Amino acid sequence: MALGFCFGWALLLSVWSCVKCDQIPEGVHRMECHDRHFMIAVDLSFTGEVPSFEAVDGTGVYPITEQYAAECGYTLRVLPLQGHVELRASYFGCHTDNKDELFTFNFNLLLVRHGEVVTYTMSKTCSLSLPWSPREIMCEVNYMEVSVRSEVTCPSATTEDSNASLKPAYAASASDWQVRFQREEQLIPMNLSEARKQGYVFSLTEGRLVFRTPYGQPDSFSKEVNGVPVEVVHAIVFSRQSWVVLVVDLVAACSMYEEAYDGGYIVWKTPELLHPLVSDIHDTQVNIGVNGELVEPPVAEERGYVIEKHNAAVEIHIPYNAEGGHKKSLVIGDLYEYYIFELYLEQISVDDDHVDTRLRFHRTLATPLLPHPVFTENRTIHDEHVFTVYLGDVPEDVELTAVELNGHTFTAPFTSGYNVAKVAHPNNTHGYTLTVPFNDPVVVQQFSKEDAALKHVLVVNYTLTVLPDNGPYYHQTSVVALTDASPPEFEAVCSEFGIGFKLDHRPYDYLWYVGIGSDRLTPELAAQHNYSMSNDSQSLLLGVPLYTHGYEYKDISLKGFLGTFEILVRDHETSQVQRSIIKTCPFTPTEFIMCLTDGSMTVVADLSSSIPRGEIPARSNLVNKYCGPKEVDDTRALFTFPLNSCGSTVKLGKDSVTYENEIFFSKKFQSDSSNVEAGVKLQCTYLLSGLHRLFSVYKFESDTVGLGHIVHSAHSNEVELQKPMAFTAVLQTPLPPTRRQTRPALGKPAYRPNLYKVFKFLLAKGGETLVLQTTSHFCNWVRTRLNVLPTDPMSGLQWARPSRLV
Ligand SMILES: *[C@@H]1O[C@H](CO)[C@@H](O)[C@H](O)[C@H]1NC(C)=O
Ligand SMILES: *[C@@H]1O[C@H](CO)[C@@H](O)[C@H](O)[C@H]1NC(C)=O
Ligand SMILES: *[C@@H]1O[C@H](CO)[C@@H](O)[C@H](O)[C@H]1NC(C)=O
Ligand SMILES: *[C@@H]1O[C@H](CO)[C@@H](O)[C@H](O)[C@H]1NC(C)=O
Ligand SMILES: *[C@@H]1O[C@H](CO)[C@@H](O)[C@H](O)[C@H]1NC(C)=O
Ligand SMILES: *[C@@H]1O[C@H](CO)[C@@H](O)[C@H](O)[C@H]1NC(C)=O
Ligand SMILES: *[C@@H]1O[C@H](CO)[C@@H](O)[C@H](O)[C@H]1NC(C)=O
Repeated sequence: MALGFCFGWALLLSVWSCVKCDQIPEGVHRMECHDRHFMIAVDLSFTGEVPSFEAVDGTGVYPITEQYAAECGYTLRVLPLQGHVELRASYFGCHTDNKDELFTFNFNLLLVRHGEVVTYTMSKTCSLSLPWSPREIMCEVNYMEVSVRSEVTCPSATTEDSNASLKPAYAASASDWQVRFQREEQLIPMNLSEARKQGYVFSLTEGRLVFRTPYGQPDSFSKEVNGVPVEVVHAIVFSRQSWVVLVVDLVAACSMYEEAYDGGYIVWKTPELLHPLVSDIHDTQVNIGVNGELVEPPVAEERGYVIEKHNAAVEIHIPYNAEGGHKKSLVIGDLYEYYIFELYLEQISVDDDHVDTRLRFHRTLATPLLPHPVFTENRTIHDEHVFTVYLGDVPEDVELTAVELNGHTFTAPFTSGYNVAKVAHPNNTHGYTLTVPFNDPVVVQQFSKEDAALKHVLVVNYTLTVLPDNGPYYHQTSVVALTDASPPEFEAVCSEFGIGFKLDHRPYDYLWYVGIGSDRLTPELAAQHNYSMSNDSQSLLLGVPLYTHGYEYKDISLKGFLGTFEILVRDHETSQVQRSIIKTCPFTPTEFIMCLTDGSMTVVADLSSSIPRGEIPARSNLVNKYCGPKEVDDTRALFTFPLNSCGSTVKLGKDSVTYENEIFFSKKFQSDSSNVEAGVKLQCTYLLSGLHRLFSVYKFESDTVGLGHIVHSAHSNEVELQKPMAFTAVLQTPLPPTRRQTRPALGKPAYRPNLYKVFKFLLAKGGETLVLQTTSHFCNWVRTRLNVLPTDPMSGLQWARPSRLV
């Protein structure tokens, strides 16, 4: 109520109407009674950025604009850090219904919803919790307000009669009141309605005279008191009532100190004595509070708020991150944060056991931008083979929204893919633990020559986002780990029909390749040699059936033999053998035939079906009857002999050559071959393509083993001795040409091969049709080997000197 136009108006009923009024929903607002003001807080999520308020009383509806708020005792602020809009209304506000220490504030909240203004009508009533002091000064954020008790005992009183009171005097007529502002010079007096036009409000309540002024008025002045700037407005109101002149000094004075930041503390100051007419230097007490409420001294102490008096000024030191403050993170290139502290301070002068003057300050203090580095820590435990990277000191209002691992981006929520666990700390920071296995596809694996180890490298680029809307901040780190890069190990198992090898793939196994002899193991090679091979992303399975290429045999007897197969692991770059896996298995077939690369045949044949009555295996022999068994038992015999000896016959096929012999029982001392019993046929078939050295070194040496057959003529049951491996199907392919090899064949018995003789014979004769056909195949084959282009196959061969073939 402005004194100028509200006199006489007291008890009008607060009746007003609005066009469209809604009830504000529960839970989105708070209305509180503080010592000297109403506090209304409405969630920002409900209001949006720009709500507006109107004060309402019996005379009308008054929009609370910035200027109007400063004049009429309202303070409206948007507090994004606290998430609400706050309206503080002084109990002396222009439109507060003030009834003897009971205050009612009626107001509207206006929001724009879907292009329409929605009005929420609200009302709050508060009773005075703390009695008024004789003089009170409120240094609000946007105005200064002074109130004095209107019934004052004149200090000059010496007699009981001179107990004069203001009240009857100005209650008589307000229009007589004048105000004169005092600066260095005295200004011209004006009436109160004139003063109101200039932004000053004087009003009279039940027991107090109130004066309010915005900061920076033309009649205000600044001065420095004990090094602290102070703004002062000195109004002298007076009234002449016939022979009495009443004069009241109303001085508003507030510290305008700009907060400083010093060593982790926000510092704010106010002089002990703001103005001689305001406070008394004696016995001042200071109470501190936050967000419009004072706290008890022990609480203040616990929170680290410090109040000191220096050089006749009160100094407040508040730790930057003290309880009660609010924090905001910010990205400006780097990650920063600042703290805001809504200081509420009370300074009271105590006089003869009662408070004489009560000064209160509302001040918003802020720290400068403080760098807030986050950090990463390598928490990898090597033996777990998992990278563990901790990102720490992430402020509350900052979230990890993405991680980039070696250039692959993963965004929050990190439900699939990589494990990112959030860790909260009591100090209002949080962290994230990222775990990535060393062998994860995203990890870069490099072979480090100098360390002779495998290097796992993980470069992490974190994207942190300040909530709700400040931009991204990137933080990078990288971790490395070295692991032993040993060549792969195979598991090997024996089976009845061969040997199985298994290799579990590791991500860095590309550093090596697998070889059989000097060849690299490929699906083609496996097919060529009848190995069974399967290779998926998990593992490589290789089955090598008995008698296939690559076996070495030892301790061959009727009881069986030992078969050895070797796999080589070679360096990818140098082809050097880095590991060899040798597996030897015992095999105990009842019958077998081995056609070895050195041109020998070893056979254990079951003769039980072809053994004539009265005969024993010991009396068996090959075509050449002087070639007898090396070992026999009741039914079986073991023979071992060079392919082209013991009366073997040679058959030349299109791509292969077959050596054949037979086991007979011939009556002792009988040379008549008609007496010979039908026997068991032994065959070894070699690929011609594997025999190219035959012509250069004049000895039998095959690139590959031959395929053996034992043919029991009595029952015509041909035994095919290459059986598929247990766990995979054997590939059946036509005999493909073999890659040329240069392995020296030292220490092997040199045979004068029959085959050579056959070719020599064929070349010399050049004869019959069948032979010619064979010859032309043979010549074509030789021609490709020699890379010569003779028009006459015969002449081409004659040039092919053995030495040039090697
Ligand atoms: C002076 O006035 C006050 C309040 O009006 C009253 O309480 C007090 O008794 C008065 N003193 C005398 C001596 O009349
Ligand atoms: C106050 O002063 C102005 C100009 O000085 C005058 O016009 C006005 O009528 C006065 N008002 C009252 C209520 O005296
Ligand atoms: C917060 O607490 C965590 C865990 O105790 C600690 O690692 C971090 O450094 C602390 N941060 C600050 C800013 O004190
Ligand atoms: C991290 O990622 C951001 C966004 O992709 C990019 O701008 C920044 O350059 C990256 N930092 C590094 C060091 O790679
Ligand atoms: C991280 O920790 C691992 C395991 O303790 C260690 O091998 C590595 O050198 C550390 N440093 C970096 C930068 O990765
Ligand atoms: C098996 O497959 C892997 C890829 O899954 C490949 O790197 C490797 O060379 C293959 N091994 C063989 C012997 O083919
Ligand atoms: C591979 O085995 C199949 C039957 O299992 C056979 O027909 C073929 O001749 C064999 N090849 C070689 C090179 O041994």
